Amino acid sequence: MKKFIFLLLFPALFNFSCTTTKQGTLIDQYKYQVQKKIICQNGAVVSAHPLASKVGIEILKMGGNAVDAAIATQLALAVVYPNAGNLGGGGFMVARLKDGKLVAIDYREKAPGKAHRDMYLTATGEPQFELSQHGHLSAGVPGTVAGLFESALYAKLSFKKLIQPAIDLAEKGFVISEREARAFNGLKDDFEKYSTQTPAFVKTIPWKGGDTLFQKDLAATLKRIMKKGAKGFYEGETARLIVEEMKRGNGIISLEDLKNYKAASREPHVFDYKGYKIIGMPMPSSGGLLVNQMMKMIEDKPIATYGFHSPEAVQLMVEAERRAFADRAEFMGDADFYKVPVAKLTSEKYLKERMADFVPGKASTSEQVKPGDIPAMESEETTHLSVIDKDGNAVAVTTTLNNSYGSKTVVGGAGFILNDEMDDFSIKPGTPNMYGAIGGEANAIMPGKRMLSSMTPTIVLKNDLPYLVVGTPGGTTIPTSVFQTLINIIEFNMNTEDAVWKPKFHHQWLPDEVYLEKGFSESTRASLTNMGYKIVDRNGIGRTEVIRVLPDKTFEAVADNRGDDHAEGW
Ligand code: GLY
Repeated sequence: MKKFIFLLLFPALFNFSCTTTKQGTLIDQYKYQVQKKIICQNGAVVSAHPLASKVGIEILKMGGNAVDAAIATQLALAVVYPNAGNLGGGGFMVARLKDGKLVAIDYREKAPGKAHRDMYLTATGEPQFELSQHGHLSAGVPGTVAGLFESALYAKLSFKKLIQPAIDLAEKGFVISEREARAFNGLKDDFEKYSTQTPAFVKTIPWKGGDTLFQKDLAATLKRIMKKGAKGFYEGETARLIVEEMKRGNGIISLEDLKNYKAASREPHVFDYKGYKIIGMPMPSSGGLLVNQMMKMIEDKPIATYGFHSPEAVQLMVEAERRAFADRAEFMGDADFYKVPVAKLTSEKYLKERMADFVPGKASTSEQVKPGDIPAMESEETTHLSVIDKDGNAVAVTTTLNNSYGSKTVVGGAGFILNDEMDDFSIKPGTPNMYGAIGGEANAIMPGKRMLSSMTPTIVLKNDLPYLVVGTPGGTTIPTSVFQTLINIIEFNMNTEDAVWKPKFHHQWLPDEVYLEKGFSESTRASLTNMGYKIVDRNGIGRTEVIRVLPDKTFEAVADNRGDDHAEGW
């Protein structure tokens, strides 16, 4: 046990060699270590947990493609990374397939049929965050399982093969880290308060690193999905268990909501930046559009000559972030329900006008920078995985329960945590959600509508071939972290580790503050203060996972060093 803890505390930061495990080799869920970087020829997976990344690589070794690996990695994360990996949440997949086809799959949760605009307000109109952020009523209709089956249209292996590793991890257990033990101990009261039956994450004596977590109920749910497909989740026993849990905890998800849930295939959000093609998620994620706006707002400035984290570069990027987030608050929401003016928001003329009042060396204010003139902080705990295979399939997936461990409601008898994604709606126009994001009509609650997201799974093509696969968790900091990672690589010519690991910053229009991550340059901080910015210190911003295709066609996979994130390859 001691050896295991040692391995997790001292991650192999600079292991550049490919794994030597043979095809089909069983993954040792009782002894594993964190690896931050790998360079490989055949395929790579980067995710928030070593075991999940290893599952993805095993699937590639079995003959699966990057989509197979992404599906199996998500299923494994639902077991080994319950703070954000999930069956009870939702997410987005962006892919560029080997034949050049671009794919965007939306499996964002939906508001239940009984949801309504003012469901979280008191009789006097006060928002009740306790209801939108915790427990049964905070859950949207889960989308993940439908999304996995929609993704499987592009996979090669049987779903049975993709789900088996997750079943094994749930049934035979896996060893948890110190970090996970601390989380389970810290959340014991919440799990007891918001679940109606004692979940696997709760035990009487405290958890410690090296303990094994068994999840029998979750294994049974996974087996039902293996046998019956999406119906094993949205109908029959699992659906019955969800609805019974709802009844016990005053939630509103019904059998009909579950049966009617469908994932959606969408047109990816695509734009060019200096010859690179950037492929992102469209609505209901704001991610692709925000990255598009921010990058285009700075494209005509010589940012490379300013230098990485120079006051000039940071100020320029902060002002682009401010303006994009002002537009998010006003114009962005589920495009199936609200006409989002995407073409206007991304037009060259509009973005030029947005930056017309930018003054180098002087902070704008968010009072002055209103949403653009055109007609018409949520949880940090989300998770991202990046996958690539030797045939040229590249996949970026970001999924979430919203904040860490979602609603903290575990479905009795089914063993998975439900999301608290309803808080990503604007529960009262103009009122910040749990992480300070503001919204209005575009993101108001309606039955069957999807709540606006910030998730930003992104693929960058160079010469029309995959170059970068990128994404991160981090609530509203997701699009700004992806923006900075791309600028770090494309403009500042940084190596991949630095692009991911160097401190990040964030501005989201309101509150009118610049968040600086621990370790940020002191002199740049002082310059920003002199320019008139209010600076707020932040711990880790995001956990960005990047795969970069090197000039010799090998894959460089880098996991963020802000968590136990792990890069695996072969
Ligand atoms: N709940 C995080 C997001 O979707 O942005």
